[in-house]
Amino acid sequence: MSDALQPNAAFKKRVFSGIQPSGGLTLGNYLGAIKRFVQMQEEDYETIYCMVDLHAITVWQDPAALRRQTRELAAGFIASGIDPAKSILFNQSQVAEHAQLGWIFNCVARMGWMQRMTQWKDKAGKNSQNASLGLFAYPSLMAADILTYHATHVPVGEDQKQHLELTRDIAIKFNNDYGVEFFPVTEPVIEGAGTRVMSLRDGSKKMSKSDPSDASRINMTDDADTLAKKIRKAKTDPDALPSEIDGLEGRPEARNLVNIYAGLADMSVDAVLRDVGGKAFSEFKPLLADLAVAKLAPISGEMARLMQNEAEIDALLHTGAEAARAIAAPILEKTYEIIGMVR
Ligand code: TRP
Repeated sequence: MSDALQPNAAFKKRVFSGIQPSGGLTLGNYLGAIKRFVQMQEEDYETIYCMVDLHAITVWQDPAALRRQTRELAAGFIASGIDPAKSILFNQSQVAEHAQLGWIFNCVARMGWMQRMTQWKDKAGKNSQNASLGLFAYPSLMAADILTYHATHVPVGEDQKQHLELTRDIAIKFNNDYGVEFFPVTEPVIEGAGTRVMSLRDGSKKMSKSDPSDASRINMTDDADTLAKKIRKAKTDPDALPSEIDGLEGRPEARNLVNIYAGLADMSVDAVLRDVGGKAFSEFKPLLADLAVAKLAPISGEMARLMQNEAEIDALLHTGAEAARAIAAPILEKTYEIIGMVR
């Protein structure tokens, strides 16, 4: 691609990211995503954060659970420090521009591009004929989420990297096909795999809201006692903690607990190991439990408080959706014009 088709300098620094309301919020969402969303809100960006309910229904969601989880996710964002006065916070289905631009991108993206997506292959599995068409088109809607705001920076986990490359491909092909420099070529802001939060029962598996064992994860709704208990019971190995990173090699559970400590304390792994190297897990776990309770219990308490007042959450989401639409609508309108729709 020539530099002429990378028109990013012309765009204002704008962050967009989304989380699916397809289950409860975990520590993985917090340390891997929301904590960074909060930091970016305080930096030199306009920040837009979205609960991607249209993405959630690419696989079956119970309607009542989806509604509850969407509100809970909103409460989680706010309790974690997303300030609706500083960031735009809303749910995707309230801003129709996402689905509208998504359709246009379905006509830009190629079948072959979608077929190569590893998340599609993993999620559809052997029975891909029975997967929803929406699941196949998922990355095209994700591109629309981002590009309907001309977002320039997208913070996501490592597992979303391929979808962001596809977003760039869609922007570039659209710009090329129509001879315009309309969509920005978005910068991924990828959190390294090293900071990924893993299961408390198996350090080689990602901490997941869909794991059948609740003991495998820390939910952002867990209260102080539950947090302390889960950390006390987390799987470890028999050795003491190393004082250098190399010593975590081949010790996924130890690495995970140290990573979690570092994330919660806002320290580097090096610095944590300098402090706790040589300690047995029986000494380290209470430190980690105290830290987790100090950092997370206020968030779960605030979430519980917010969830008592659904009308207030819904009002915040309406306001957020309006602010989002004010940016998205003119961009969609211009897109329609570019592609030749009579308006
Ligand atoms: N696919 C993302 C995930 O599962 C969620 C998502 C949807 C998203 N649209 C987005 C993330 C746009 C960033 C930008 O994590």
